[in-house]
Amino acid sequence: MKKIRIGSFLSVLLTLLFIYALVKWGIPAMSREITSLPFPLPVPGTLMFFYMVLTIVALFLYVTFSEEGLTDFLRPVKKFLRGGYTKIFRAVVLTAIPAVIGWQVYEIVVPKVEVPSALRIQHPSSNFPKSFEAKKNPFSDPTEAEVDAFIEQAKANEVVFIPQVQDDIDHWADESEPDHVLEFFPDGPMKKLLAQVQDGNVDKATAKAALLEKTLYEGRALYAMNCRACHGDSVAGDGPMADGFKLRPIDFTDNGTIETIVEGYTFWRVTNGGPGLPTEATPWDSAMPEWKLSLTEEQRWRIILAEYNLAQKTPRIPESH
Ligand code: HEC
Repeated sequence: MKKIRIGSFLSVLLTLLFIYALVKWGIPAMSREITSLPFPLPVPGTLMFFYMVLTIVALFLYVTFSEEGLTDFLRPVKKFLRGGYTKIFRAVVLTAIPAVIGWQVYEIVVPKVEVPSALRIQHPSSNFPKSFEAKKNPFSDPTEAEVDAFIEQAKANEVVFIPQVQDDIDHWADESEPDHVLEFFPDGPMKKLLAQVQDGNVDKATAKAALLEKTLYEGRALYAMNCRACHGDSVAGDGPMADGFKLRPIDFTDNGTIETIVEGYTFWRVTNGGPGLPTEATPWDSAMPEWKLSLTEEQRWRIILAEYNLAQKTPRIPESH
């Protein structure tokens, strides 16, 4: 049986095409199998460039390895240039190559008409429900009954924390065996309250300040778990993930952000995130998650209390007040 031998020029061309197809479609298809994601992971352009350069270098070495190899490779090229594959074919190819290259260069250098960059409105109110406007943070001003209940808990040494921090506090209590769980807070109003509890003479103002301190601690913990990655430890919009977004997470310490809006508005923003924003706020879509999907109303309010506190800002007072 006669072996079909394809020339070295053709095999070099086919190898190039094969490697290109492998990197361009093969690897993404494999990645999809491995990760079982609903979409393939594309190979980045630079990596693609490296693969192709390496392939060309390897093929160049292969072809120029011997005198015969090079002659074999150049034979069809010479035949083509002499018009051995018909003169028409030569004319077509020799016209097409500069035309394609010229077109590519033109594509790159021609000034493009840029899509006008629309201004983004950071605080759109068009679909902000009016009912949210007067919403107040239920934790910022604890009622008399809540303060009394807290005093009772403190007296009985049975202060209850949100489950997200309770484990840490229990762990601390096991390690340091304190007389009272509130010793977890080494200073501030909590220390004052503890001294008063031990004296048997608690005043409500101190208890209220201590309760606020406890809520802030819980809010800060929830903030660290949910918001820190984007908005940062310093609440300045510089979390570890912040650089990944074209529309940067908001810097809460900036005067134009959470200070200029009423609390109910902040609550609405946190609740509905980027997806809840109207069109005037959509250029460079916001990555802000829709927190109603994963945080309860109480958790959101606790975080907002901590957020304003960390940023050392106060919300705007609603007009009706
Ligand atoms: C995936 C990143 C990401 C996470 C996590 C995140 N945010 Fe955001 N957030 C953003 C981005 C981006 C913006 C700016 C775009 C916008 O206004 O929607 C923003 C905007 C905001 C705003 C609007 C401020 C203003 O002045 O308009 C508030 C309030 C806010 N975030 C609160 C939070 C809270 C609270 C959490 C945690 C529960 C949180 N964010 C978690 C990305 C994030």
